Amino acid sequence: MTFIEWTNDMSVGRATLDHHHRMILDCLNRLHPLLGTTGQDDEIRSVLETLEDFVLVHFSEEERVMRAIGYPDWRQHKLQHDAMYDMVFELKVELGHGRVPAAERLFTGLGDWLVRHILGEDRKYMPYLECAVPAAVAEWQRANGRPY
Ligand SMILES: [Fe+2]
Ligand SMILES: [Fe+2]
Repeated sequence: MTFIEWTNDMSVGRATLDHHHRMILDCLNRLHPLLGTTGQDDEIRSVLETLEDFVLVHFSEEERVMRAIGYPDWRQHKLQHDAMYDMVFELKVELGHGRVPAAERLFTGLGDWLVRHILGEDRKYMPYLECAVPAAVAEWQRANGRPY
């Protein structure tokens, strides 16, 4: 059963970033049936490793996009990403020491944060995405010596 269903109103208006967000939600949906169970360490480990990959790729791409479209609060947004990554890193260190974090902790700690972040903070840069100059147009105007 899908716990967190993707809906179109979660979209930030850019396919790549939406795809990353959906992958992150998929990880949380994989964790949900593991809540309160025991003996599922391998599955929890696998979800955390996948989540770490997605989070790393996604945060750096989102930060690149925010700077490219001139989103003024990108630094503040990046600080939130950094705090999140610290949490993921600590969990990874625990795994490295053979301690598998409980599914509850992952789901509530990481899950709540990520869902709130995607639905709240990420959608704040949408208006800037909508009026950003497409890269190809900017390139053409630069080549023709016209301001943009
Ligand atoms: Fe995001
Ligand atoms: Fe973000």
